[in-house]
Amino acid sequence: MTGSSRYVLATRSSGKLRELEPLFANARIEVVTLDRLGIRESEREAEIEAFSTFEENALAKATYFRDITGLPTFADDSGLEVVALGGEPGVRSKRWSGRTDLIGLALDEANNAELLRALAGVTSRGARYVCVAALATSTGVLTRRGEVEGEILDAGRGSGGFGYDPLFFATELGMTFGEASRREKECVSHRGRAFHALLGAMRGG
Ligand code: IMP
Repeated sequence: MTGSSRYVLATRSSGKLRELEPLFANARIEVVTLDRLGIRESEREAEIEAFSTFEENALAKATYFRDITGLPTFADDSGLEVVALGGEPGVRSKRWSGRTDLIGLALDEANNAELLRALAGVTSRGARYVCVAALATSTGVLTRRGEVEGEILDAGRGSGGFGYDPLFFATELGMTFGEASRREKECVSHRGRAFHALLGAMRGG
């Protein structure tokens, strides 16, 4: 599924863009953002990821923006699954706090506060991040899943990454994703793993 010289990277998340743009640059794949294409955020977009699986949501985003742009399009859907919460917040990670009035850092802080509230007094803190990376082209679609295991701390550490990262202690790194460098996070993260696997599959690997 290679051959195209320009791809769309379809996300509105600045945190995801900060992680994915260098990953694509290293792989020598030219990606353009929705902003650079002048595609403004619409109300319809909020309804795209209404499914109950990361796979369905990632495919819905990739095909939606492929159809608008006419270009092969990468997208992802990701979230945090906490064992003691039965896998919540899962696909609802972004809006888990219920604060529809907030965006960016303020929304991240509200979600983190909600996570700490939900886990107050809970000793079993196991969690995993999940990401499904999707590519939609004119000839078909491709997805790959990445996961990373860890634990939810009872207070944040570090200011790197985004979202739940200061609270997520990654077992393989021995530190939180908030403390990790971008490169360290990419090596073990759900998103790094999903996109490296997707790029490998595109190359026939
Ligand atoms: P999506 O944009 O619908 O895929 O929602 C992703 C949400 O999951 C984010 O807004 C975060 O709340 C959470 N999330 C996913 N990946 C990460 C990550 O790498 N770090 C921190 N939070 C993440």
